Amino acid sequence: MRYLITSALPYINGIKHLGNLVGSMLPADVYARFLRQEREEVLYICATDEHGTPAEIAALEEGLDVAEFCQRQYERQADIYQQFGLSFDHFGRTSAPENHELTQHFFQQLEANGFIQERDISQIYSLDDQRFLPDRYITGTCPHCGYEKARGDQCENCTKVLSPTDLLNPRSTISGSTNLEVRTSKHIYLLLDKLSDEIRQWVEAQTHWPQLTQSIAMKWLNEGLQSRGISRDLSWGVPIPKEGFENKVFYVWFDAPIGYIAATKAWGEAEPGRDWESWWKNAEEVRYTQFMAKDNLPFHTIMWPATILGSREPWKMADYIKGFNWLNYYGGKFSTSSKRGVFLDQALDIAPADCWRYVLMANAPESSDSAFTWEQFQKPVNKELADNLGNFINRILKFTASRLGNTLPEGGTPGDLEAELQTTCDQLVKKLRDHLHKMEFRRATETLNALWTAGNQYIDVRAPWALFKTDKDEAAVVIRTCINLIRLYAIASAPFIPHAAETLYDALKLTDEERHHTMTEAANLTILAAGRPFEVPAPLFQKLDDDRLAELMAQFGGE
Ligand code: MF3
Ligand code: ZN
Repeated sequence: MRYLITSALPYINGIKHLGNLVGSMLPADVYARFLRQEREEVLYICATDEHGTPAEIAALEEGLDVAEFCQRQYERQADIYQQFGLSFDHFGRTSAPENHELTQHFFQQLEANGFIQERDISQIYSLDDQRFLPDRYITGTCPHCGYEKARGDQCENCTKVLSPTDLLNPRSTISGSTNLEVRTSKHIYLLLDKLSDEIRQWVEAQTHWPQLTQSIAMKWLNEGLQSRGISRDLSWGVPIPKEGFENKVFYVWFDAPIGYIAATKAWGEAEPGRDWESWWKNAEEVRYTQFMAKDNLPFHTIMWPATILGSREPWKMADYIKGFNWLNYYGGKFSTSSKRGVFLDQALDIAPADCWRYVLMANAPESSDSAFTWEQFQKPVNKELADNLGNFINRILKFTASRLGNTLPEGGTPGDLEAELQTTCDQLVKKLRDHLHKMEFRRATETLNALWTAGNQYIDVRAPWALFKTDKDEAAVVIRTCINLIRLYAIASAPFIPHAAETLYDALKLTDEERHHTMTEAANLTILAAGRPFEVPAPLFQKLDDDRLAELMAQFGGE
């Protein structure tokens, strides 16, 4: 079995917030790191989703050409993800030539197989902007409630669904121009209705899917699938290879998921000997897992499978779709457009990536929405990372170095208490692996924390500092056991806090082979024997005191 992993492709138009990270890239990374550690063959692919009106508008606002805007934003995003330790095998772009090519290929297949239809539709054209306006780029007065800034698709004041021609005094959101007219133009439609039975069959066969994924897919299917327009009057995007469509491109949601395959192709072409196609075509021995927030589920359970099924080619479809609920910011939504919440660049100024990784996984919105609050950030950082893990490591290594020097001490043999600790560790590691295999991230972090607690309970009972005065041999046993525990902690925690894990590997001077131990192998508490050297690392985690917390709340706002 080989493991293909993708996370929903982040939009290009700006730095993402914590809510985006927790529902797609971060859990996928923890899963990928874990499987690689288990010596599985893993390919973890992501990319920026670069087409569509939001990218064009954002570029316009910054006075940049769209291609240049995307290039800059791509670099910024790639840099931030690297700082967060996201271990993509490839981080591509949907604007890449591979995606243009594959998108056009899928379209041609769909067309040849009778799943594409051409239709004439009427749309609003802005003479001053010299372009057709998508519904949400038309502003006007709501005919139902009189709200003056209603959008062409919906009034956000009374929530009524609108069409642009319902608006009174319609104007272009881009320029404010009222010089608008209705024009007719040709568009292409994907006949989802014709594929509905096949999609249903596929969805119904996925009995092991999580509840959230399954129920969202069934809701859409039961409402009845409608054909969907997949062309847009834009210039930035994948051109439509069809006569009469020279000035149009594909709808962003048509080309974006194809980006998963295209980014894999780009990975394959980057180095000789990489067989990218074997991950996607006739790939029965590949287990493919997708990670995403719930708003992306309809596209991944319905639209994207329809594209694949309709192509009549043997492309890999998802074996498992891990969907996440929302992470809210003090009960309200994180929002890119209204700048509410914490963005990833700001987050890194506040605390190191590992703190965020751990706290976010501990609060992952798996079975329901969850809330981010500064209090809930402080508690796991201080109690779990700084005290339970960091303090244990620091106390043991500092004490040993100051009393016995920088090597593991000689003497004594492990007894009943060590055997008991060994059993506890074996059980917790088994449990942790089990949760990670099932992608239960909250439970996995709880189990990891329990593993750290086991060490603290052990030294409470064994009190090496006191033992050192009365029985040097017994104290040596306890210290060796604890330093081996630190090694186990480093390896078991690595999928969650990879930077801290590296620091510990270095401090314990692990060999290359030891760094690549699985958790199961690392659970043996006697691997590091007497005489092995170590260094005392700087404290791994800084606590957040109440003053700092108050500052953050004032800076970012709470309620
Ligand atoms: N860009 C979309 C979002 O941020 C996700 C695209 S996922 C893909 O919600 F399937 F299109 F790739
Ligand atoms: Zn209204």
